[in-house]
Amino acid sequence: MGVMFMQDWEVIKNQIIEKISSAADLGMIEQVRIELLGKKGSIAAFMQQMKDIPAEGRKAFGMAVNDLKQTAEKLISEKKQQLQQKEMDEKLTSDKIDITLPGKQFRYGTLHPLTVVQQQIEDVFLAMGYSVVEGPEVELDLYNFEKSNIPADHPSRDMQDTFYVDVKRLLRTQTTAIQMRVLEAQYDKMPIKVICPGKTYRKDDDDATHSHQFNQIEGLVVGEGITLADLKGTLELLARSMFGAEREIRLRQSYFPFTEPSIEIDVSCHICGGKGCPTCKGTGWIEILGAGMVHPHVLEVAGIDSKKYTGFAFGVGVERVAMLKYGIDDIRHFYANNVRFLDTYTRF
Ligand code: DAH
Repeated sequence: MGVMFMQDWEVIKNQIIEKISSAADLGMIEQVRIELLGKKGSIAAFMQQMKDIPAEGRKAFGMAVNDLKQTAEKLISEKKQQLQQKEMDEKLTSDKIDITLPGKQFRYGTLHPLTVVQQQIEDVFLAMGYSVVEGPEVELDLYNFEKSNIPADHPSRDMQDTFYVDVKRLLRTQTTAIQMRVLEAQYDKMPIKVICPGKTYRKDDDDATHSHQFNQIEGLVVGEGITLADLKGTLELLARSMFGAEREIRLRQSYFPFTEPSIEIDVSCHICGGKGCPTCKGTGWIEILGAGMVHPHVLEVAGIDSKKYTGFAFGVGVERVAMLKYGIDDIRHFYANNVRFLDTYTRF
């Protein structure tokens, strides 16, 4: 091949310009780019020829090829941008959004009714300066039973059929276990004022009123001069906060190993106001929780001087309060994860 004349370069350049400008879409411009600038493209082929060009014409040849290359690169990149823009514009005009179509339904989660009740109870006590303390669900027999004044052969162990993990450890049957931990940890930090919410477990067969796993909130106050009257006043306030300002409470004698005296608290029925109805089984009263004065032995075991300090404690079932408050007839509803049920009671 001989030396090319300047006009030949002009012809080639015009062909290149023409080729680039006639590419109608991104696929075509890519095709053109490969043809011109690819490894086996025509500009590479000119480069190959350089070595055969006589020395006097080589510089001009090189400059001409370089000019072709730069022109091709610049025009291809411009054309590409232009075609991209064009495709985007076409897409925007052809893609129509039908704003009359129904939108996606978003579900907002709500707090579980048991969480709501637990928080309401916590709020009552936080307002009175109590702290909230938690404890382990896999608990030592030591705290769940021994230190709660329920030794190994004590008959009241039968009342709380227990899931044992091994001989020493169990799934706690009562939040009273946390109470024992608090007494031990704070024996020298009087007064003690805590509530202890938590999950509890018993080997019960599940039915409308029993669940093998449920929730309790324990309350504990220890200090100088704490009396049963303080307990009564405190629980009256709890009952009124949960069931209405007109509620009355009454104390009935009961038995728990860790309290002396032990009492059960009834609240006047929030459905009939005390006249008698199916909810209160015609009595006008509903039992809501167990309580009592902390047994002196329990205080002594924790290292607290029971002559100087006295205390009261109570344990309330969260499910029971929620069921009474919202008129729920089956404890299993709380665990069935039926969203319609959960929504209903949380929007109260
Ligand atoms: N632990 C008891 C239960 O699960 C409830 C209870 C009763 C807790 C009296 C107390 C209390 O702290 O003083 O049945």
